[in-house]
Amino acid sequence: MEKQPLSIVILAAGKGTRMRSNTPKVLHKICGREMLYYSIKESLLLSDDVCVVLGFEGEKIENTMRIYFEDKIRFLYQDIENFPGTGGALKSYQPKYQKVLVLNGDMPLVQASELERFLDTDTPITMSVLESRNLSGYGRVIITDGEVREIIEEKDASAKVLAINTLNAGVYCFDKEILESYIPKLSNHNVQGEYYLTDVIALARQDSIKIAPLFVQLENFQGVNDKLDLAKAEEVLNARIKAFWMKRGVIMHLPETIYIEESVKFFGECVVENGVCIYGNSKITASHIKAHSIVESSTIMDSDVGPLAHLRPNSIVRNSHIGNFVETKNSELNGVKVGHLSYLGDSEVGSGTNIGAGFITCNYDGRAKYKTKIGKNVFIGSDSQAIAPITIEDDCLVGAGSTIRRNLKKGEFFITCGKEVIKEGFFYKFFNKKA
Ligand code: UD1
Ligand code: MG
Repeated sequence: MEKQPLSIVILAAGKGTRMRSNTPKVLHKICGREMLYYSIKESLLLSDDVCVVLGFEGEKIENTMRIYFEDKIRFLYQDIENFPGTGGALKSYQPKYQKVLVLNGDMPLVQASELERFLDTDTPITMSVLESRNLSGYGRVIITDGEVREIIEEKDASAKVLAINTLNAGVYCFDKEILESYIPKLSNHNVQGEYYLTDVIALARQDSIKIAPLFVQLENFQGVNDKLDLAKAEEVLNARIKAFWMKRGVIMHLPETIYIEESVKFFGECVVENGVCIYGNSKITASHIKAHSIVESSTIMDSDVGPLAHLRPNSIVRNSHIGNFVETKNSELNGVKVGHLSYLGDSEVGSGTNIGAGFITCNYDGRAKYKTKIGKNVFIGSDSQAIAPITIEDDCLVGAGSTIRRNLKKGEFFITCGKEVIKEGFFYKFFNKKA
């Protein structure tokens, strides 16, 4: 997509009261990234002059967005106290170019290809319109003879106006001069006592300026005002992420049951079964993730994982088999088989090693975490534990049911043998029964 001589301003100064949260609305996450991240990312595909207007918790939002975008965008702080509202947000905004696209920051589903459509018309104002009867929270758009006349906010609307099914989706394309002349003329004489950007429409109309409606789909222009909207937006975005990867060769079983975050990457041919969740900076290469496994910020190559495995952050798994009820964390496994019911934390395991069912790395003593090193071609019998810090060198053999408390040298056999106690016929004596 080519960059256009276009300025984009994203309004993100509001508190988002309807979210009922201490987190500013635009920092609520969708598929692992803050909602505002998505509209900035799409805007940068179209423009080299992207500005975000901040107010409530502005510094926190700026710092978070700088992690992703560094200096590629600029920030402007709104004087919320004196000029509240979406119109107040643009009070001191100066665009670089003639055409200015204004986006609400609470529209994470908007895509650059859709925003580009606003540039096709040459009217001084083009605004997005959704057609729907069952949505609330949107301004009603009065359209006659194909032109927009006025936007009436829901809170200011009469019952008759509320019945109108053309809604303001919250994206506008203005000629620079329109903002320059009408933003200073806005007033706050309305139910909310705010300066509404939407009143620019009525003011421009009084001067016979043409305002074109651009009909858009909810799929791209859904606003997020509460946590129900947030969940709906995540569903749409997650479906897009999965479609992207399936088109690139990832096989997914029952994809609607799978959750994959924006930052996850696949390479080569991978299979992801139903109910799998993959989070953070996970990188999956030529691997099979079986049903209901959870993978968090981990790297998996040429391996199969699950069903019902849990790879916690910084697990690096190469050429290995990880079976059901196995949990790993901050561990590197190269050519390892760990088939059942094990925990490998803060560990390193070498190739050819087989970890029996129920093996645990005891990596935490209540105060600090310690490392477990297991070499190549080691066989660890079932139901064993290694008390870290500990090193088990290559070619060791550990008998089932062992508690390994000391380092094992190359080629050693180790088993913990408790004293065996056998009492003949004890069962019958204990329960006072006959044999
Ligand atoms: C707004 C529109 C409404 C439209 C809807 C679409 C106005 C007056 N109303 O209503 O017609 O149907 O979006 O989603 O514009 N913001 C600021 N500064 C402020 C207030 C808000 O930057 O002082 C930002 C918010 O952070 C948010 C965006 O502007 O990202 C929209 O604000 P919001 O309160 O969600 O407006 P709506 O009530 O949804
Ligand atoms: Mg909104």
